[in-house]
Amino acid sequence: MKDFLAQPGFLAQASNFGADLSYSLALVFTGLFLYAWYLAKKSEGSKHRQLVIISMSTMILYFCAYYYARQLGVLSLEGKEGFGGPDEIYESVFKPILTTHLILVTLGLLIAPYLIVQGARASKKIEGQYFLKDEDQKMQPNTFKRVMLIIFGLWAVIQIVNLTRSNISTASHIAWALIFSSVALIASLEKLVEKMLPNGAKRHRVLGRGAMIIYALTLASSTLTYLMLYVIYPKV
Ligand code: HEM
Repeated sequence: MKDFLAQPGFLAQASNFGADLSYSLALVFTGLFLYAWYLAKKSEGSKHRQLVIISMSTMILYFCAYYYARQLGVLSLEGKEGFGGPDEIYESVFKPILTTHLILVTLGLLIAPYLIVQGARASKKIEGQYFLKDEDQKMQPNTFKRVMLIIFGLWAVIQIVNLTRSNISTASHIAWALIFSSVALIASLEKLVEKMLPNGAKRHRVLGRGAMIIYALTLASSTLTYLMLYVIYPKV
């Protein structure tokens, strides 16, 4: 798989197939999310819901497959080893952009499932069309406990599967633990969000717009990273 991803790319002369596939899919996913925003603005609640669910599921599936294929090699492939420019540019320009990009990707991956659940709870279906309910939205203590148990259960299943695989690295175990702790942290933050934005419809609109801005910035930062690595400062 690694050899397959390392084949010559189709977008820039100096790039590889993995980087070009990743960048092209980033364009597709961001386009789908921004179109879903346009549908919400046009009050097309049902089409908006369908599109965010499809794009989020494919985006997460793709990230998991890509992460498995590269086995945490993303940083070493896209980091210092692949950058052919001067050291000062690497430290003062490239590294901050790459770090910002990775933070945005993580935020985007965490906020999407949260908004899918929040959006579903905050809306009602009238004659086949979804509308946001203009009322307070609170999570019951029992629901909160159930959510935490589901998160822990999923992590336990992945741990068991990973323990049966001989080639899994300690870094992978740490990465999974970090991913699930972040999801649990987001679920715990819900109580704070409830206080700040009690109305479910308003919460969905405010956080939804925040998420759409994160997706647009993710695309901007990945474009900059791609240009610096494969067009402006390719490794020769
Ligand atoms: C990643 C997930 C989601 C994101 C980022 C998101 C984002 C947004 C945004 C930004 C708006 C406000 C549009 C505007 O006025 O500027 C909105 C509205 C809305 N969303 Fe979502 N949403 C998501 C998931 C969902 C889901 C799963 C549902 C399920 C029913 C849903 C239902 C709605 C509805 C009904 C509206 C109101 C449309 C109207 O004004 O009539 N959303 N969403």
